[in-house]
Amino acid sequence: MCGIIGCNGVESAVPVLINGLKKMEYRGYDSSGIAVLCKGKTVTEKKKGRVAALVKELERKANSEAQIGIGHTRWATHGEPSDENAHPHQSGKFTLVHNGIIENHTKLKEQYLKLTAMKSGTDTEVAVHLLNRFCSDSCLEAIAHTAKQLEGSFAFAVMYEDEPEKLFCVRQASPLVVGLGEGTFAASDTAAISENIHTLYRMNDGEIAVLEKDRISFYDFELNRITKTPDVFEKSSYTADKGSCEHFMLKEIYEQPEAIRRTVEAYLNENGFDLGLKPAKPERIFIVACGSAYHAGLVGRRVFETLAKIPVSVETASEFRYSEPLVNEETPVIIISQSGETADSLAALREAKKRGAKTLSIVNVKESTIASESDFVLLTRAGPEIAVATTKAYGAQLSALYLLGIYFAESFGTADKNELEEMKKALNDLHKSVSAALNCEEQIKEIAHRLKGIDRAYFIGRGAGFAAASEGSLKLKEISYIHCEAYAAGEMKHGTISLIEKDTTVIAMNTQTALAHKLQSNIDEVRSRGARVIAVTSADSKINADETITLPEVHPLFAVSTQIVPLQLLSYHIARLRGCDIDKPRNLAKSVTVE
Ligand code: F6R
Repeated sequence: MCGIIGCNGVESAVPVLINGLKKMEYRGYDSSGIAVLCKGKTVTEKKKGRVAALVKELERKANSEAQIGIGHTRWATHGEPSDENAHPHQSGKFTLVHNGIIENHTKLKEQYLKLTAMKSGTDTEVAVHLLNRFCSDSCLEAIAHTAKQLEGSFAFAVMYEDEPEKLFCVRQASPLVVGLGEGTFAASDTAAISENIHTLYRMNDGEIAVLEKDRISFYDFELNRITKTPDVFEKSSYTADKGSCEHFMLKEIYEQPEAIRRTVEAYLNENGFDLGLKPAKPERIFIVACGSAYHAGLVGRRVFETLAKIPVSVETASEFRYSEPLVNEETPVIIISQSGETADSLAALREAKKRGAKTLSIVNVKESTIASESDFVLLTRAGPEIAVATTKAYGAQLSALYLLGIYFAESFGTADKNELEEMKKALNDLHKSVSAALNCEEQIKEIAHRLKGIDRAYFIGRGAGFAAASEGSLKLKEISYIHCEAYAAGEMKHGTISLIEKDTTVIAMNTQTALAHKLQSNIDEVRSRGARVIAVTSADSKINADETITLPEVHPLFAVSTQIVPLQLLSYHIARLRGCDIDKPRNLAKSVTVE
């Protein structure tokens, strides 16, 4: 993760860098730092902690008039969060910020830098020392030579005191965009520079960009010039603020109905589907993703298998990429990713393509690498998601999967036509049911007051209910730091039930009306051992528990979309009562661009 930024030819670099870093803090918040060139000399300021700590530090110093600079916000991979390990790193006349992991940093140090004293515990520092070592007089040549020595992933922004009018950027397997406006700009994420630019270029792996005041030139690692065409860039889609909400997470939970409505309407209208896909029925489909997107994939499997009668394998991307997956031209692979930059998901996509599979990605960020490398893209329309814990993007991913499931069933003739028409209507109205589900917030607040002190919780469900349980469990643990586990309800009795004691919290998801009586037995089993069970269910399906959260009736296939809402709100309110940093939970970052 980490976010990098650079600018050149601006009136004052410091505010541009700080503004951009604030917008990229979701990428990591262990430390931040900037470096600017002032009259050809490097001035660096870096600090452990949030960008706010850096801003405080900068306020105590004289304001710089520098027009060129680089900045960094860190998610620590090598070396603890500290002032020393914060970027930028410097060696001689070079200063550099880095996003990624240099996997061969130890070998490179032994090979080239035996006598160089390292000031930090980072992998990054090796790169800046290599630049210094390899440079005779051209920074560009030193960068190309260094880049070829490095293994792993890197996006760099580099300044060199002997060429103070140029900013150098490099991309290899870590995201990086550059753009033109009143000056030139570079960043890990378009959002960081969107207000400064009118023209955007997405860099590809193996490319170097040289940013002068008013132009950008591109090279490959052999220093051949490259001609690039600008990317389509919509400024308006990058505004994000908390509105009247205390946290982005709450605002985004409330934006979920709109995210669903926009996603569905983009691909399904009164004339039917508008997907631009002509699928032939495959033998098997793979769905690959990480974290919450993986949990959306679990729901997708139920939908595809039920409607389209295709066997589906759902894999976490970090496992898929190294598993010699049984994927070929006959097995389409669906990648789900909010950011479209998750390193494991991107690697899985490339692995699938290498094996000849057609790839479809469900992505929220149009300009992302996963979107640009997939054969087909189904864009979710959740808008920018800022809170680290995903909510509305997850909701939009579910809708995209429902759309695909119904579309496949219609194309393959695997479900009753009238039923499919009913489903389409229900999907068009799903946002209304999700909106109505938000009415449970007052009940949730009371439950949160009672549960705020618990040290563990179990989430159970059957079928799609287990997928919902998995997502609910992840939400609560990641933002409140309560130990949570999700179990297929019928599996509890095979071991985990021994952990149930008096007053252990169990949350039971009843998404499958047909299996409600089976879930009821599992609820009774844990209650008779002392558990306090909160059941989440739709109005049309009765469940006996210590407390029930009843949600509006919804088509059973879409029940996870309404039932996830109380779990998102519960996590939010418990975390708030525990005083947790909701939008930026410890140790996490939103866009996981390292393995
Ligand atoms: C959890 C969460 C993560 C992401 C995961 C994948 O709330 O947000 O588990 O779902 O890191 O990220 P994307 O969807 O960007 O690939």
